[in-house]
Amino acid sequence: MDLITNIKQMQDLAMKLKGEGKTIGLVPTMGYLHEGHLSLAVRARQENGIVVMSNFVNPLQFGPQEDFATYPRDLDRDNKLAEGAGVDYVFAPSGEEMYPEGYSTYVEVKGGATEKMCGRSRPGHFLGVTTVVLKLFLITQPSRVYFGQKDAQQAIVIRKMVTDLNLPLEIVTCPIVRERDGLALSSRNTYLSPEERRNALALPHALAAGRQLIQQGERNPVRVREEILRVLESSPGIRVDYVEVVDGRTLEEQPVLQGPVLLAAAVFVGKTRLIDNIDLEVV
Ligand code: PAJ
Repeated sequence: MDLITNIKQMQDLAMKLKGEGKTIGLVPTMGYLHEGHLSLAVRARQENGIVVMSNFVNPLQFGPQEDFATYPRDLDRDNKLAEGAGVDYVFAPSGEEMYPEGYSTYVEVKGGATEKMCGRSRPGHFLGVTTVVLKLFLITQPSRVYFGQKDAQQAIVIRKMVTDLNLPLEIVTCPIVRERDGLALSSRNTYLSPEERRNALALPHALAAGRQLIQQGERNPVRVREEILRVLESSPGIRVDYVEVVDGRTLEEQPVLQGPVLLAAAVFVGKTRLIDNIDLEVV
């Protein structure tokens, strides 16, 4: 496995590989890798001649009060894990390399999915995500790009950008990887104290309670949302950011649950903000 930090070097290599007829699978990450990230790399390995993983903590997608400075980083450890998962190239540029002085171009999906859920709680977040992701696409020239359903809204926003800009690549969304007790893996779980780690379980439990209601026949999204809220609000150490029960493709509200449905929530456990979701097909 090779580590590349220079944009031109990565882009020249990607162009050359493509010229040789190889397909490139890209796995964009912010590092501090866990089994969730690695599941994307394993899938990319199965479907592409070359696997590139980017490892870049993108300052543009963090708000001024958020955790950019403290976001966990360990490139050496990440590189070993990436190699083990079959990654051919890790692209890990510096902030200066990606956004040199005077940088001033941004890509924004306006309205729609970007205004809901995390878009409301984190203004500018998706602008930062789409900008860095488009740069990564142009630098690494992928045929397929792998995203986790953990960030369901992110995948929806990126699919919209790909459609609107006619980008010649396929977005592949992969299932959420969870701890044995149900907590979704996240680099931010490392912030949790042992007590917070226990309290955090309310998030998957609440979403599962919502799913159970649907499985028992409930089709009113308001009642499902209330049940998720009820579980979260009766749990210690949890502050709710949002709970949504919406169309799984558009994030629009449904009057009656039908077709792809997403149960999504964001909560604060102490200072740590965690997101999770369950998607299901309601018939
Ligand atoms: P990051 O949070 O590092 O996540 C990188 C990819 O791993 C995302 O597609 C995310 O959905 C996926 N992922 C994270 N936890 C997962 C889990 N438990 N199961 C399955 N997949 C999981 O998302 C980002 O970075 C950034 O916004 C990025 C797209 C790299 C742009 O900066």
